[in-house]
Amino acid sequence: MAFFLSGSDTMIDFDAIPHDRLPVLLRTMPKAELHIHIEGSLEPELIFALAQRNGVALPYANVEALRAAYAFTDLQSFLDIYYAGASVLLEEQDFFDMGLAYFERAAADNVVHAELFFDPQTHTDRGVPIGTVINGLSRACETAQRELGVSGALILCFLRHLSEEAAFATLDAAMPYLQTPLQTAPQSARSRIVGVGLDSSERGNPPEKFARVFERCRELGLHLVAHAGEEGPPAYIWSALDVLQVERIDHGVACLGDPALVARLAAERVPLTVCPLSNVKLRVYPTMDRHNLAALLDAGLCATVNSDDPAYFGGYINQNFMEAFAALPQLTARHAHRLAANSFEAAFVDAATKARWNQMLDKVFAAD
Ligand code: ADE
Ligand code: ZN
Repeated sequence: MAFFLSGSDTMIDFDAIPHDRLPVLLRTMPKAELHIHIEGSLEPELIFALAQRNGVALPYANVEALRAAYAFTDLQSFLDIYYAGASVLLEEQDFFDMGLAYFERAAADNVVHAELFFDPQTHTDRGVPIGTVINGLSRACETAQRELGVSGALILCFLRHLSEEAAFATLDAAMPYLQTPLQTAPQSARSRIVGVGLDSSERGNPPEKFARVFERCRELGLHLVAHAGEEGPPAYIWSALDVLQVERIDHGVACLGDPALVARLAAERVPLTVCPLSNVKLRVYPTMDRHNLAALLDAGLCATVNSDDPAYFGGYINQNFMEAFAALPQLTARHAHRLAANSFEAAFVDAATKARWNQMLDKVFAAD
């Protein structure tokens, strides 16, 4: 027997948990989702319903034709369709409906907390006011908390294929909605924005392009994250850490090519928000059995599992857990517990809340 004294002082005998219990544990364990682009949760059915509601013409005849277009060869081929899908979002209610639909899926997967990325520039560039986006998503967070018991927060992402100037303009427009220690009286007290991120086309758009925007966000007291090392090189992870000074790296799977970087990430316990299904759909790995999730964990990194754009990549967070564990037999119950515990460690919430979630997690494993 190899009892393990967990974070909540619960004794768990991981070695006694049979491998065939893993699917149930993966599904039922509480978890936090920290890498979900809310626009990437728009299911084809909802895209068509919103298109009809808003009188938006789509270049696809029906849901099946749209789904058939989801054959991606790399990140850019996905982004082109993803931005087109978001064009049906016009009114505050659309953003609310999209957000709540995600939270319902998340609750079914035993997600206790989700930090939602959103891309305001995708909407403001079409004439949608930023307040429409933020108020709709913030209201979805409130309803999810009240009706589903899932806590939610928002992370405003700058599109890295656009300019620094455009990012600054977006930050200015969002100022009334930011909840930071320095912004004590927001116009919208209900806004759930806790941080900023950096997403879209990685190659050719290194983090340092946004050094000054992130410096300003840091001064405002916002949490900072950035996509790095998804398709881009380890150098982009270094500059996300050193230049942008982010607290988490989104994806980051390229780090294993750089031992000094792995040592740094492990020593500082910088979380990586890994998205297995996304990495296979966008051909970062040819198949799931080639994914480096197990290697990241065994290198002592604070890796987490997330869904990225679940409507486009074949499933929500539990599907990511299930497919990764099915394809990588070296992943065990200890890894499953570690991944959920890492997601709590990496979440932007207070220590007491994390302790409560860890107790819930340990109960699931101790009962086994
Ligand atoms: N926006 C939505 N999904 C993304 C991803 N996987 N990488 C970069 N930007 C994104
Ligand atoms: Zn992403």
